[in-house]
Amino acid sequence: MGAQLLLPLLLLVVQTCIPATRGLRCMQCERNGHCQVEECAPGQALCRTTVLRIWEVSEELEVVETGCAHPEKTNRTMSYRTGMQVITLTEAVCGSDLCNRPNSGRSPTFPRSRYLECVSCASSDLSCERGWDKSLQCRYPGEQCLDVVTHRSMEESPRDERHSRGCGNLPGCPGPTGFHNNHTFHFLRCCNTTKCNQGPVLELQNLPSNGLQCYSCEGNSTHGCSSEETSLTACRGPMNQCLKATGSDELGNPHYTVRGCATPSWCQSLHVAEAYRLTHLNVTCCTGNGCNHPNEDRQPRVGGAPRPGPAHFSLTVTLLMTVRLWGGTLLWT
Ligand SMILES: *[C@@H]1O[C@H](CO)[C@@H](O)[C@H](O)[C@H]1NC(C)=O
Ligand SMILES: *[C@@H]1O[C@H](CO)[C@@H](O)[C@H](O)[C@H]1NC(C)=O
Ligand SMILES: *[C@@H]1O[C@H](CO)[C@@H](O)[C@H](O)[C@H]1NC(C)=O
Ligand SMILES: *[C@@H]1O[C@H](CO)[C@@H](O)[C@H](O)[C@H]1NC(C)=O
Ligand SMILES: *[C@@H]1O[C@H](CO)[C@@H](O)[C@H](O)[C@H]1NC(C)=O
Repeated sequence: MGAQLLLPLLLLVVQTCIPATRGLRCMQCERNGHCQVEECAPGQALCRTTVLRIWEVSEELEVVETGCAHPEKTNRTMSYRTGMQVITLTEAVCGSDLCNRPNSGRSPTFPRSRYLECVSCASSDLSCERGWDKSLQCRYPGEQCLDVVTHRSMEESPRDERHSRGCGNLPGCPGPTGFHNNHTFHFLRCCNTTKCNQGPVLELQNLPSNGLQCYSCEGNSTHGCSSEETSLTACRGPMNQCLKATGSDELGNPHYTVRGCATPSWCQSLHVAEAYRLTHLNVTCCTGNGCNHPNEDRQPRVGGAPRPGPAHFSLTVTLLMTVRLWGGTLLWT
């Protein structure tokens, strides 16, 4: 009767291996459709479903990605035109085990409803830069007209959609909400009357200086945010706070630092986390010239447990884009 003895013993061993507070479990599905159950890291308190749809004259392509998400993630949508295509991104979050199982009531059909009419363009076909605005009918209730700038000059690859306009419902609306330093410019504004997002594209240098100066850098204390690489920058437009954020980067290196000028609404960890894909964030803002000074950084302690970053996709794609408002990389062929 050895088996009778063995079973309780095994159960005991199994139980002691499972930590008392188990994290949330989410479905983790990759673009190729391969799914597995993922136990979320501490602090990842939501499951997400991110859907990218590309609509062309007679074709449509859908790419779905699911996984764990940080607790500040919210539902969001965005649609815009580029070339002959309409790109639609949607992301929904939920908070119980495996609540993001695929095919749980998602309708794959293009919504036929029509709401607000907005202007749409994108940098990938240079339509924003050339002023070739088209019209786009919003398909989801509650969507507003968007004007989005996501620009990073340091990035080797992938490329951002530097300017994009269209319909959507994004955290940060109505804005304006934004951030800039020597390397980066993020800006979002939303409005809700017909084609209210038209006009010339917004470039940082066209915004007036607002009199504040903040320290600017991004990187760690030896690469990117060393004292030689940190300088004062003149703040522009509504970005009238000095921001300092530190967190762990995608590779798990702690003490990744970002400094620059921000709108008060950008001083939440949500926007910094998504734009830079940082975890374990500490974001502070202050008003006063140079108040995000580097000399206040001496924190020799080792930060939170580094986590492995998201797997890197093999970049065998012909067109790729990073949407920093989504805190992830969305790629398509
Ligand atoms: C987010 O989207 C999901 C799925 O569409 C929905 O069930 C949920 O109620 C939404 N949450 C909020 C806060 O709107
Ligand atoms: C339109 O935007 C204004 C300003 O942001 C807001 O006060 C108003 O509630 C919005 N209306 C609708 C219908 O969303
Ligand atoms: C800073 O980052 C670089 C690469 O990005 C890395 O090689 C270096 O070890 C880091 N330095 C510190 C002090 O973490
Ligand atoms: C940042 O920009 C200012 C003004 O454009 C320039 O003087 C400074 O050298 C730049 N700093 C770095 C580190 O690129
Ligand atoms: C966040 O940063 C501020 C200022 O740099 C510091 O005073 C505070 O202790 C930090 N908080 C955490 C949780 O590290």
